[in-house]
Amino acid sequence: MAEAATAYFVETCAAVIAEKGKFSVCLSGGSTPKRMFKLLASDAWKDQVDWSKLFVFWGDERSVPQDSPDSNSGEAMRLLFDQVPIPKENIFAIDGSLPPAEAAEAYETELEAFFGDHEPVFDLCFLGMGDDGHTASLFPYTEIIYEDEYWVKDVFVEKLDTTRISLTPEIINQAARMVFLIGGENKATVLKEVLTGDFDPEKLPSQLVIRSGAEVTFFLDEGAASNLNLR
Ligand code: 6PG
Repeated sequence: MAEAATAYFVETCAAVIAEKGKFSVCLSGGSTPKRMFKLLASDAWKDQVDWSKLFVFWGDERSVPQDSPDSNSGEAMRLLFDQVPIPKENIFAIDGSLPPAEAAEAYETELEAFFGDHEPVFDLCFLGMGDDGHTASLFPYTEIIYEDEYWVKDVFVEKLDTTRISLTPEIINQAARMVFLIGGENKATVLKEVLTGDFDPEKLPSQLVIRSGAEVTFFLDEGAASNLNLR
């Protein structure tokens, strides 16, 4: 799955840079994308990316400093961006060391500055899925699911007893390409429910993206796909 996602990343990046001269990618957090980060930093792949024309964002962040192992941007820096010649000014991390509401506001300001006066449209947006059906930090039964004024919001996640900072559904869905990376048998049940169950985005927020009508690409491993009868 990580190899396939890495090849997709490299191919899409090259095609968009050839067309537009730059490429904006929004990364997901958690553990699933880490193998892809390591592959992108490897000798097999790193020279196939024009890092000077790549601009990196995140879909969500934990309320922790970047040196925390829980930091989505921190882990991506350690596994990938510290290993490749990407200009530091091309990296737009959510500052988890700020109070969450301030971090959200600061990140929205950075998005406005980069994308100009229109809403952010990422060339590629990677997303993961939790076993509860959340994506980014759109967790079940949280108010961010209905957010339609802000592009970035802080959200208290009761089940984790922590506050996250996340892009809102509208901004995620603006992306030109949305790609889910989902691995592990523990995601098989929720993935099937998200794809084929009743539309209930309050319970399964990933449906806000997957059932939005936009084209979505999935990279799954055998475990995550085991309930989908794809054979
Ligand atoms: C995060 C992610 C989150 C993640 C899912 C899956 O900050 O944790 O953005 O949405 O993609 O929780 O996480 P795993 O890849 O660790 O299963």
